[in-house]
Parts: sequence; structure tokens; C-alpha cells
Amino acid sequence: MRTVRTARHADTGGAGGHSRILGIGGYRPWRVVANTELCAAIDSTDEWIETRSGIRERRFAAPDETLHSMALAAAGKALAAAGVDPREIDLVVLASMSQLDQTPPLSVRVAQALGARAAAAIDLSAACAGFCHAIAIASDAVRAGSARNVLVIGAERMTDIVERTDRGSAFLFADGAGAMVVGSAAAPGIGPVVRRADGAYSEALRMTAPWGDSAGARPWMRMDGRRIFRWAMDEVAPAAAEALRAADVSPADLGAFVPHQANLRIIDLMAERLGLGPRTAVAQDVVRMGNTSAASIPLALETLLAEGQAGSGDTALLVGFGAGLNYAAQVVVLP
Ligand code: ACO
Repeated sequence: MRTVRTARHADTGGAGGHSRILGIGGYRPWRVVANTELCAAIDSTDEWIETRSGIRERRFAAPDETLHSMALAAAGKALAAAGVDPREIDLVVLASMSQLDQTPPLSVRVAQALGARAAAAIDLSAACAGFCHAIAIASDAVRAGSARNVLVIGAERMTDIVERTDRGSAFLFADGAGAMVVGSAAAPGIGPVVRRADGAYSEALRMTAPWGDSAGARPWMRMDGRRIFRWAMDEVAPAAAEALRAADVSPADLGAFVPHQANLRIIDLMAERLGLGPRTAVAQDVVRMGNTSAASIPLALETLLAEGQAGSGDTALLVGFGAGLNYAAQVVVLP
């Protein structure tokens, strides 16, 4: 049988080499929205929202803060932090669940605007698990030598798909974008991914109708929060522990825990189940940013690094989970 060469970029350290995060960047919309601003529409209180979710405020995008502009801003910061020229990017993977323009892919328009002329670009739909799935794809591409550098982006305008009067979700979701550059490395910087989808829970988080199928009525996202909360504890917390074992990192040695920023109670309970010690910084970006779906993990990482709670060379456990239901987790070394 004939064989073929498998790696395009073996000379850059790709084939047989390793991958790592080279830089992280985020974009936060300007408008800060406090709990009190939302209460009247959902018959709630500031106290209820903070007690049940930990959220005090979030950011809502203005009309000119589009998915494209936010993704571009976050990507530009990540590239600058990584010291990578856009022309050195071979692949852009953009995760989003709130893109209303289905085609052309947003990733292609972002690559074009950045000047990433050599890059292939794909959009990825895995809701709040999207960013960790995208990191896994990026890492595999770099390690296999099919890409030198991969730009991973999570961008969301959840305010476009969440109904302001929906009591179960209007106070949780928000807007923003985060990005990172994944490139080659001499030592492993991104651990094995632990991932799974469970379609038995597909009704727990879904749109009310397909686009264009509802006689002019707009589809909105609906969520069975209580069911997802239990699933996160029963299924995702053990998967997070498995990702630590797979990377051979003990809870005591973990530098930072950065789960999807869905709810502070979920974050705290997961940290407890993992047996994390006082040396591990636990991301709490949800308090000020709400749930920004695929953007929440890079935004939370950016905050930890900016505030000095975690530093370059520290290990961080990332855990994305959400609609599908769907999860992906891996340990990374911070840039
Ligand atoms: N304001 C005031 N009261 C409310 C509100 C509200 N906005 N919403 C519900 N309540 C009431 C309920 O009616 C209920 O009253 P009852 O006890 O008299 O029946 C009570 O508060 C408790 O309601 P629960 O739904 O059980 O509240 P819970 O403690 O579960 O918190 C929440 C709700 C915050 C949504 C939580 O379940 C959650 O965060 N779930 C996980 C969400 C998640 O992780 N999603 C996945 C990722 S997102 C993605 O993929 C897009």
C-alpha cells in the first residue's frame, strides 16, 4: 500500500512536537448592566440573582459592538500578546452559538479583516463548550503539523438569542469575545482533552423554533437550569477530574481552575469536588461578566492573568460545558 506524508509544517516543530498557548486577549462591551436593571422584566431581585448565580453585573453589546468587531478586537489582542503576525496563522477556529448570519462563516470574515491571508477558517458550534473543543482542534493541528499557529476565538452576543423577559435565563447571559493563539512548543503545553456529548439532554437547552419556521415569531433560547446544574455536577465535575489525571497534574499543584462561567455556585461546587487547595486560583469572572458562553473561558483567563492571580508557566484546568449537552476539558500551561 502507498503511504502519504502527513505533516505540512514538520520543520516548525509541528510533527512529533508539542503545542502551547502563546497569547490571550479579550473584548468586553462598554455597557455595564447591573442586576437591578433587569429585575422588572423578570419579576426578580438583585439579591435573588446574586444568591442563585453569583452575578452582580454583566456587559451588553451596543449595536456597533458586533460579533465581528468583538472577535476582531479580542483576536488582535491575542496576536499581539503572542507576538505572532496574522500572516503566520494557518487556521482560525471561531466558536459561537449566537451568530445570526449563518453564512459566510464569521471566522472567514475575521481572518480577512486581520490579514491572515494564509489561514483556513471554520466556525464551530458547541455552545458553552465551544472554546475548549476549539483548543483541542487547534492543539491537534499544531502537533500533527497541519498548522503552525491556530487562532482560537469565542465570540457571543447572547443578548440576540436570549429573551429579556425569560425568567430562567435573562439575568445569566451576556456578550463579549475572547481569543488565544495556539502554536508549537518544545514541551507539552496543552494536555489531553476529555470530551463527550450526551444527546439524551438535548431538550434541556435549545431554541424555541428553527429560524424562519415560526410565522414571523423570533426563536429564543430556553434552558432547564436546574437539570443542567445537576448534570454539571454529576457528569462534568468527574470529567474535569479525569482531565487533571490525563495531564498528570494533581489538584494540589494546579495553578488555576477556569471552568465555563455559568454560575458561581457551580464553579464553587466543582472546585470543592476536585479537592482544590488554597494555592489554586479559581476564576470568578461570572460575577462581573455573566455567562458569555463560548467567550467565558478566555475572558476569565485574561482576568486571572491581568490581576496576577495566575502567572506565566502556571497550569490551568479549563472546562467548557453547555447545550447538547456537551463538554470538553483540558489542562493548559499559561503563556
Ligand atoms: N427571579 C426570582 N425567582 C426565580 C427566578 C428569577 N429570575 N427564576 C426562577 N425563580 C424561582 C423559581 O420559580 C423557583 O421557585 P419555587 O421554589 O417557588 O418553585 C425558585 O426560584 C428556584 O428556581 P430554580 O430554577 O430551582 O433555581 P436554581 O437555584 O436552579 O437557579 C439557575 C437557577 C441560576 C438558572 C441555575 O439553575 C443554573 O445556573 N443552572 C445552570 C445553567 C448552566 O450551567 N447552563 C449551561 C451553560 S449555558 C449554555 O450552554 C448556553
